Amino acid sequence: MHPNIKLPDPQLDLDFPLMKALASRRSTRRWSDTPVSEQDLSNLLWAACGMTKPGNARTKSKRTAPSACNSQEIRVYVLLKNGVFLYHEEPHELIHMLAEDLREHIGTQKIMKSAPMGLVFVADLSRMTSPYVRNKEAQRFSAWVDTGYISQNVYLYCAAANLGSVVLGLVDRDKLHALMQLQDHEKIVLTQIVGHY
Ligand SMILES: Cc1cc2nc3c(=O)[nH]c(=O)nc-3n(C[C@H](O)[C@H](O)[C@H](O)COP(=O)(O)O)c2cc1C
Repeated sequence: MHPNIKLPDPQLDLDFPLMKALASRRSTRRWSDTPVSEQDLSNLLWAACGMTKPGNARTKSKRTAPSACNSQEIRVYVLLKNGVFLYHEEPHELIHMLAEDLREHIGTQKIMKSAPMGLVFVADLSRMTSPYVRNKEAQRFSAWVDTGYISQNVYLYCAAANLGSVVLGLVDRDKLHALMQLQDHEKIVLTQIVGHY
């Protein structure tokens, strides 16, 4: 059993102009063998949906990405060579879930099989408890749009850090769902590759 990964603190004082990141954001589909460093992993997960304001007895914590009714239903799984990890925003840690290397299942296109690292955006419907997001259609719309914000945050960090990335809708969700041993209320929305190019 692999241990959890306590990520280094995200580098919140990194300086990169937002307008430059927006201008250079691009989908890339070619990667080198250089692994993504733990510092980059920490930074990009924090950018994705890290905690920006702790919660208290009356209000829930806040994240970098907005979510419908602050449901925070999107959970980010990370597929690495040494297994499947789940990102916990607090305390900014990767929880080891499975030992299998599932990276080749990140997308169905042949080129995606060599992904150096994969993110899987999973909507946990049991977190959508507000009356506004309780019906199926609202859940579906909200899960997709909330994933979009997170994915774009990842793209922008990658643009700033000189990393390549591509978000994927061409995913065999049933197969990946089974391989990741997810439950019925957990739905794979999109996946995303990150790597050096
Ligand atoms: C919801 C969604 C699903 C996507 N799925 C795939 C995919 O499965 N495979 C792929 O190569 N690109 C995929 N893309 C990336 C788009 O092809 C890409 O964003 C588009 O061509 C524009 O290029 P750009 O991101 O470099 O601006 C997807 C993008 C979005 C928003």
